Amino acid sequence: MSNNLLKGKKGIIFGALNSESIAWKVAEQAHAQGAEFVLTNAPIAMRMGEINNLAEATGAKVIPADATKMEDLEKLFTEAMEILGGKLDFVLHSIGMSVNVRKGKHYTELNYDWLEKGWDVSAVSFHKTLQTAHKLDAMNEWSSIVALTYMAAQRTFPDYNDMADNKAYLESIARSFGYHYGVDKKVRVNTISQSPTRTTAGSGVKGFDGFIEYAEKMSPLGNASALDCANYVITMFSDLTRMVTMQNLYHDGGFSNVGVSNAVMQKFMEE
Ligand SMILES: NC(=O)c1ccc[n+]([C@@H]2O[C@H](COP(=O)([O-])OP(=O)(O)OC[C@H]3O[C@@H](n4cnc5c(N)ncnc54)[C@H](O)[C@@H]3O)[C@@H](O)[C@H]2O)c1
Repeated sequence: MSNNLLKGKKGIIFGALNSESIAWKVAEQAHAQGAEFVLTNAPIAMRMGEINNLAEATGAKVIPADATKMEDLEKLFTEAMEILGGKLDFVLHSIGMSVNVRKGKHYTELNYDWLEKGWDVSAVSFHKTLQTAHKLDAMNEWSSIVALTYMAAQRTFPDYNDMADNKAYLESIARSFGYHYGVDKKVRVNTISQSPTRTTAGSGVKGFDGFIEYAEKMSPLGNASALDCANYVITMFSDLTRMVTMQNLYHDGGFSNVGVSNAVMQKFMEE
């Protein structure tokens, strides 16, 4: 269904790896709502070429960029403005990776080279993206920049490991840069804190299967899907949310405000 909520809007979508990716769904929904955009991902993530199917389906161009490299980001924003014919109205940062999680390093024994790499990819890349857009004056007034995050930034989920710290840093960047970008250019910066979702990044977290079921039972509305998340992102890109900035917005079926649910209690009452 389309309400043309993004008609005439132009943007960049980071992080569509495969059809499970949240960014993939955002691209499909943005296209359905009338937006034009450039797709981007790290060159190494494009080896399988899946992103080309999405590009074809949404009429988008693909520009490879490692989001930790300033020269890649500068090229990306410059070329995106050329292709789309002007400044941008939205950017989605949908990027996350922890080497310590990937290699199964326990949080009490972190490898700090790996920590720095994961922090750069998952958190600092957001600052680099914002700084590049700001420097190139790439965003229209009232445009909207969204990054995806997880509630481990606020509460402890033991196996989320150093990604919890990366997400806390990411959310802080949204507030800090959001202040300056709002004052200078009326650009909005927010994070959306999404339910656990079966994607390549999500499934990489130890114990994910048990955890996603637990979250489902804890949330009054159940877990929010990747498609639900995409729809929320679209509202944040639209003019209907133009006064929302510097926020961390929970999109989790109510999980974040629940102490315990009857469904979970039931499990413990079973003999
Ligand atoms: N899946 C979940 O349970 C969940 C829950 C809350 C938040 N999130 C967040 O949603 C976002 C998207 O993740 P997803 O679940 O769709 O998984 P995904 O694996 O499909 O997406 C992660 C993306 O990050 C990209 N990436 C990694 N290194 C990069 C780099 N150097 N430069 C540019 N791109 C790079 C990957 O190529 C991939 O496309 C992440 O920030 C993730 O932390 C996911």
